Amino acid sequence: MANPKACACFLFISLLSFFPLSLALTDGEVAYIVRRQLLSLPEDGDLSDDMVFEVDVNIKFQNSRLKQAYIGLQAWKKAVYSDPLNFTANWDGPDVCAYKGVFCAPALDNPKTTVVAGVDLNHADIAGHLPVEIGLLADISLIHLNSNRFCGIIPQSISKLKLL
Ligand SMILES: *[C@@H]1O[C@H](CO)[C@@H](O)[C@H](O)[C@H]1NC(C)=O
Repeated sequence: MANPKACACFLFISLLSFFPLSLALTDGEVAYIVRRQLLSLPEDGDLSDDMVFEVDVNIKFQNSRLKQAYIGLQAWKKAVYSDPLNFTANWDGPDVCAYKGVFCAPALDNPKTTVVAGVDLNHADIAGHLPVEIGLLADISLIHLNSNRFCGIIPQSISKLKLL
C-alpha cells in the first residue's frame, strides 16, 4: 500500500505543474471550461472506432496519419478558451507540420511517411481543456504543456498515444 501522504504530495506537485501559479482564470471561467469539456466528452471519455469526423473534402493531406493529426489539432484549437499570445493563430489548413509548436518527423514504422511527432505549447499561456480527439495524435512521442492554463480532466483517449 502506498503512503497516502506521499500520494497527496505527488498529486499536489502534478497539479502545480498542470496549472500554473498565476491562477489567472476565475472560478467561473474554470467552471465554464470544464462544462465545455464535459459536454464534448463521449460517455466513457474515450475515442471509439466508429466516431465520425468531418473534414472538408477539398483539403488534401500528404497521408492519412497527417489527416488524423489535423482532426486532433483542430479539435484542440476549438477547445482553447483563451490564447493571449495567439500561439495557435496559424493552426489552419492541411500543412499541420507548419503549425506553431507542432513538430513532424518520419514515422518510426515507415520512414517514408511524415507524421506529427510532437506538440510543444510551453509558455503559450493557453487556457482550455484537452479534447478527446487528442487520441488521434497517435504518432506523438512528446507533449510539452507547462506554463499553460489547461483545466478539466485528461481524456482516457490519451492512452492511445503509445509512443508518449
Ligand atoms: C493577438 O491577436 C489579436 C487579434 O488579432 C490582437 O489584437 C493581439 O494584439 C494579438 N496578441 C499578440 C500577443 O500578438
